[in-house]
Amino acid sequence: MKLRLLHTVALALLLLSQNGVAEGTNKPAKTTYIIHMDKSNMPMTFADHLEWYDSSLKSVSDRADMLYTYNSVLHGFSTRLTAKEVELLKKQPGILSVMPEAIYELHTTRTPEFLGLEKNKALYPESNLASEVIVGVLDTGLWPELKSYDDAGLGPVPSTWKGTCEVGKNFNSSSCNKKLVGARFFSRGYEAALGPIDESKESKSPRDDDGHGSHTSTTAVGSVVPEASLLGFASGTARGMATQARLAIYKVCWLSGCFGSDILAAMDKAVQDGVNIISMSIGGGITDYYRDTISMGAFNAMAQGILVSCSAGNAGPSSESLANIAPWITTVGAGTLDRDFPAYVTLGNGKKYEGVSLYNGKSLSGPVPLVFAGNSSNSSSGELCFTGSLVASKVEGKIVVCDRGGNSRAQKSMVVKNAGGVGMILTNTEYYGEELVADAYLLPSAAIGQKAGIEMKKYIFSDPSPTATIASGGTEIGVQPSPVVASFSSRGPNPLNPQILKPDLIAPGVNILAGWTGAVGPTGLDGDKRHVNFNIISGTSMSCPHVSGLAALLKAAHQEWSPAAIRSALMTTAYTKYPNGKTIEDVATGISSTPFDYGAGHVNPTAALDPGLVYDATVEDYLRFLCALNYTSAQIKSSTNRDYTCDSTKKYNVEDLNYPSFAVPMETASSKAGGAGASSTAKYTRTLTNVGSPGTYEVEVSSQIPSVKILVEPESLTFSNMGEKKSYRVTFIASSMPSGTTSFASLKWSDGKHSVGSPIAISWT
Ligand SMILES: *[C@@H]1O[C@H](CO)[C@@H](O)[C@H](O)[C@H]1NC(C)=O
Ligand SMILES: *[C@@H]1O[C@H](CO)[C@@H](O)[C@H](O)[C@H]1NC(C)=O
Ligand SMILES: *[C@@H]1O[C@H](CO)[C@@H](O)[C@H](O)[C@H]1NC(C)=O
Ligand SMILES: *[C@@H]1O[C@H](CO)[C@@H](O)[C@H](O)[C@H]1NC(C)=O
Repeated sequence: MKLRLLHTVALALLLLSQNGVAEGTNKPAKTTYIIHMDKSNMPMTFADHLEWYDSSLKSVSDRADMLYTYNSVLHGFSTRLTAKEVELLKKQPGILSVMPEAIYELHTTRTPEFLGLEKNKALYPESNLASEVIVGVLDTGLWPELKSYDDAGLGPVPSTWKGTCEVGKNFNSSSCNKKLVGARFFSRGYEAALGPIDESKESKSPRDDDGHGSHTSTTAVGSVVPEASLLGFASGTARGMATQARLAIYKVCWLSGCFGSDILAAMDKAVQDGVNIISMSIGGGITDYYRDTISMGAFNAMAQGILVSCSAGNAGPSSESLANIAPWITTVGAGTLDRDFPAYVTLGNGKKYEGVSLYNGKSLSGPVPLVFAGNSSNSSSGELCFTGSLVASKVEGKIVVCDRGGNSRAQKSMVVKNAGGVGMILTNTEYYGEELVADAYLLPSAAIGQKAGIEMKKYIFSDPSPTATIASGGTEIGVQPSPVVASFSSRGPNPLNPQILKPDLIAPGVNILAGWTGAVGPTGLDGDKRHVNFNIISGTSMSCPHVSGLAALLKAAHQEWSPAAIRSALMTTAYTKYPNGKTIEDVATGISSTPFDYGAGHVNPTAALDPGLVYDATVEDYLRFLCALNYTSAQIKSSTNRDYTCDSTKKYNVEDLNYPSFAVPMETASSKAGGAGASSTAKYTRTLTNVGSPGTYEVEVSSQIPSVKILVEPESLTFSNMGEKKSYRVTFIASSMPSGTTSFASLKWSDGKHSVGSPIAISWT
């Protein structure tokens, strides 16, 4: 909760200053709005749509300029308006909606081996096919000098590419090449809200001054770079998921956030430019699809055959903490790798603890005095080691124990260092449990779990002269169990459509090595003067581009597959168990995780290449889904930029969207008539498409759960031809259970060669 509250506070401040900066004190405040126009119903009096948009705007404000006009993912424009102007504009003909711009945030290599890609060169031929796929990454830009963008060995830029390389501060046309085929930046919304960009602090160009975009883009499609490491950690060959795929970068995130009008403009351009995959490690709050910028952009990208892969958010382990949940988006949660960066703490009483750290400098020569930050500060939350909060005379020459939370983990090490401390132990509070995330600290440090932290504090408070020493353990490979679901990874159930399971799947997102900016050091802190070409960071921001890159490989191998087919292949072949048969663990609880945490499971790229069958979905299927949500024609038009009328004689069911997973909300006895002991029934229909050899598939439902009967009809499906479709129905008959109860199962179609799995998550509301 703490993390989310802090984000909310930061956002409120941003909005406040946004209203203050651009306008004089007497004038009414203006904010940015995205105006969705009903282009197909343009009044006949106008020669073209731009003239019409302009006239509509001028009729309410003679001073307002358009920030952008949008032509592909929706029709309309963005501009700055006062509340009064908004009311007037809404009354104009042909206005579908006037939406205030939302502000989004970033969801802050051993991966190919871990995913089994290395072993399967033959399955994923690094041929011309992959080099025909273009991945568009919306992020903070990129650092073009990184070797990860080297284009050696790549053929000419695909003829389908229609984008460009925009020049700007520290970025010229020679920054692009046959790997980085396009680069654009979108700052009009950002500058309209916050004033002109300070070019001494950030580049008004596709150049990355933050690091996030360099990291995500090289994770997705980075070229092979031998001898990569962060300060010696995780050393080896770095490579993205689709090393031959091309990259187009769309810089939409700046030092103070990512603005909706800029994001929409970037998605609009990416679709026109001809990308095949869009990767967005960006998220905000959840709203209905007709108000959600990313969802609208993604719908129209999907309609053009573009898979949109997004991060699920870092608001876990709380339930219902997801972002980017539209069913036409692939939503990616995060798991760990089998790699760790151990650091060992030995206390004066002889007790030893293992934590993690990416500190590579001079280590401590022996035990030094140990203090708790909460006893060494005159601030009320001294334990958190906020900037300037430690009293130098109390920490000089000592190892300081700081609690995690409130400010960045690496920043705490700088606070300790600046106050004269010689080491830091970062202790997890209850909120973080046993989850350990490694950082490139500025002095000998170890991040340790909550249990060890409690013991360590007991020792400090009871021993008259406590001491400790910290030693680094380098890089450890083969850590088990792995993967485990990251504590921060956002969790279901889906708060908007409980019948659709989200996240869709998990991929590596903890301690990931990938490219970095030259503008800031690995901690991103002002005082960190180190320069690195690779950095190790964590977040669903890191897991999303893994899936984006894998989707590019699948697109190359199966060019005819729709975005839904690609996602289905990734989901139905994902795994949920370790080789020993135990279910993937959740680091937040230390016990087995569930489909609300990992969706269909952990991505398995080798199996995804040949899934046998897929759950496909068309634009029409998603429109029917919106009918099932009882959207009005106007809401459907806002959500999808399409005219569609639901058939009032037809019954549409959310349960029938052809999704590769099952989320089944059940009513409790008290919430429905019938009283105790009553059972409720839910029916879901699905259609499978054969994308493999002919064959007969038999269904198997895992471990029947006592409170729910699961029936599948028919139990066998025979496919004779490629592309053939067969439907089946699943009936869930559930006994009444107390509200809040959950139960899990899985359903699998198998022909003896392929295994097409779907998770089932049942919850009593
Ligand atoms: C473009 O940038 C590169 C490296 O920053 C520089 O070497 C080159 O001279 C620049 N070219 C032009 C045309 O400005
Ligand atoms: C240090 O802080 C702990 C926890 O707040 C407290 O229990 C303890 O009494 C403090 N010790 C000293 C010496 O102030
Ligand atoms: C602590 O309190 C003293 C006296 O009120 C003040 O001068 C100082 O700035 C505060 N902070 C630190 C880190 O000493
Ligand atoms: C849509 O309306 C129908 C009929 O009123 C209702 O049964 C159904 O629950 C509604 N669906 C949703 C998702 O609200």
